[in-house]
Amino acid sequence: MSISFSEDTEHTQLTSAISLPEDRAEGSLRPKTLGEYIGQKKAKDNLKIFIDAARMRNEPLDHVLLHGPPGLGKTTLAAVIANEMNVNMRITSGPAIEKPGDLVALLTNLSEGDILFVDEIHRLNRAYEEILYPAMEDFAIDIILGKGPSANSIHLDLPHFTLIGATTRSGQLTAPLRDRFGVTLRLELYSPEELQEIVERSASILHVEIDPKGSYEIASRSRGTPRIANRLLRRVRDFAQVRADGAITREVADAALLSLEVDQYGLDAIDRRMLRSIIDYYGGGPVGLDTLAATINEDAVTLEDVYEPYLLQNGFMTRTPRGRCVTRKAYEHLGLVFSGNEQLEF
Ligand code: ADE
Repeated sequence: MSISFSEDTEHTQLTSAISLPEDRAEGSLRPKTLGEYIGQKKAKDNLKIFIDAARMRNEPLDHVLLHGPPGLGKTTLAAVIANEMNVNMRITSGPAIEKPGDLVALLTNLSEGDILFVDEIHRLNRAYEEILYPAMEDFAIDIILGKGPSANSIHLDLPHFTLIGATTRSGQLTAPLRDRFGVTLRLELYSPEELQEIVERSASILHVEIDPKGSYEIASRSRGTPRIANRLLRRVRDFAQVRADGAITREVADAALLSLEVDQYGLDAIDRRMLRSIIDYYGGGPVGLDTLAATINEDAVTLEDVYEPYLLQNGFMTRTPRGRCVTRKAYEHLGLVFSGNEQLEF
């Protein structure tokens, strides 16, 4: 199996679920088989059946749509599927496809059974989606050559391939594209126990000594996200090497994460600024997402896709039809007194 890549990302935050350049080292930590892949039980159980059935019929897997917050292992899971199906995978992303020719070239270069992985598929130009419809449905594309009365169309058959699309926002996919995926799997934030298993597995690959309380401390401060857990593990490892004897205990992890400004719940400066602004400027809410984004000078999409899911899931914030509200837990976590929708500082 070979995997070819084309990806670009830019972000600088330690607890961002979005891929950072330093995460390139993540490759060696990625599981290769479904058996090694920790968590996402529902998605894994379903996938196993579809993979086994496709293999028994000697057919390529049906097209798969993976959706969920960033950093949960959508690319990893696609690579696991390729490995389990014993086929090659080509990796691209919606925004990387700049012209129709890019997509045609990708499709025509596939071999029988190959997987085409399109990350951020919701950002694929709508006009180019139409190339995908017959490609996904009939394994063929029609290319129009020339313009006006002398235009000619040529019909190209494609190999039977599997499209794996990944998205953080499945609601933004058009219905015709969404309907062409035979399998849709939603990835959920990981529990601290699942992340602890991932941290221990990664520590063993990296030959880092860690005790169970140390791995749990990192896991419980990683916002339900393996990419963050692996990143924090590497930073805590540096800390353990320089300030301790190299082994990661709960105390070492706690001291390292505090100095990195990652708090007990894994919230970082932006999370805290977001909660604090709702309290300070909007009496605890409700406030609309765009207003909040403008207040703290962040991008609304980033707030919604990257920050909100964890804050919602962990009860720091609620979403109402009138906007976002913070909860009692958020007030208490920030050291503020909750009294209805007003706040009083200690
Ligand atoms: N590394 C990153 N994600 C993982 C997962 N789900 N299982 C095992 N290792 C991982």
